Amino acid sequence: MKTTEKYDIEKLNKEMESRMPQELLEWGLQELHPRMAFAWSGAEDVAVVDMLARINPQARVFTLDTGRLNPETYDVIDRVRGKYGIQIEILFPDAAKVEEMARDKGVNLFYHSAGDRKLCCNVRKVQPLKRKLSSLDAWVTGLRRDQAVTRTEVRKIEIDKTFGGIIKLNPLANWSNDDVWDYIRKNEVPYNGLHDKGYPSIGCAPCTRPVKPGEDIRSGRWWWESPEVKECGLHVKL
Ligand code: ADX
Repeated sequence: MKTTEKYDIEKLNKEMESRMPQELLEWGLQELHPRMAFAWSGAEDVAVVDMLARINPQARVFTLDTGRLNPETYDVIDRVRGKYGIQIEILFPDAAKVEEMARDKGVNLFYHSAGDRKLCCNVRKVQPLKRKLSSLDAWVTGLRRDQAVTRTEVRKIEIDKTFGGIIKLNPLANWSNDDVWDYIRKNEVPYNGLHDKGYPSIGCAPCTRPVKPGEDIRSGRWWWESPEVKECGLHVKL
């Protein structure tokens, strides 16, 4: 039986909607570890690393190192590793594909067009993620409904058809940005230094900039594009 067929996703979603994120993670670790891993972006979704490490320090965590991350992001990855003693897998893009893309389109191709920007996200993030997920039955993300117009329908448990129909757990789906920050402060979770420099959302260095107080939290991501198309391809439904 396929993993996804073992579970009544509708029923689980009903049960989990009002529960704390930790309860969904506990369920996931119990049912799916070690075939489940958390995709940590190096940003405020670090709250999930803290939750996982408290439940089971063997929980699996990986980061997609696009090669264009900010120094602050590399810094927090090592601080988190040091604090929790948790293993963080660092995944790289296919070197030959990056070389080919840079040769054909230039190293800063993302500024040329939405198509080129998406190509870069695809080579540096989506393909490495796809490779990783092909060895898993479930992945965990820090997606939240309040992050973007493209994310208002995010559910706590989904079947991810984009990546082979595996389970996708979004424990923070119904948390607000403030809920996440309350958690980080209360639990003294190490966080990315960019957050103190005006970056509520963090992606790659050339494609993320700080925002002004009151501005939309993702307005600093691919700021030259419109909100409806601002996804890198990790969370786009087929
Ligand atoms: S995205 O547009 O870059 O996908 P965002 O930065 O809001 O969006 O991240 C949403 C979730 O996608 C994160 O909480 C994390 O689970 C996953 N994610 C995004 N970037 C990475 C990354 N570089 N490595 C691992 N996971 C990531």
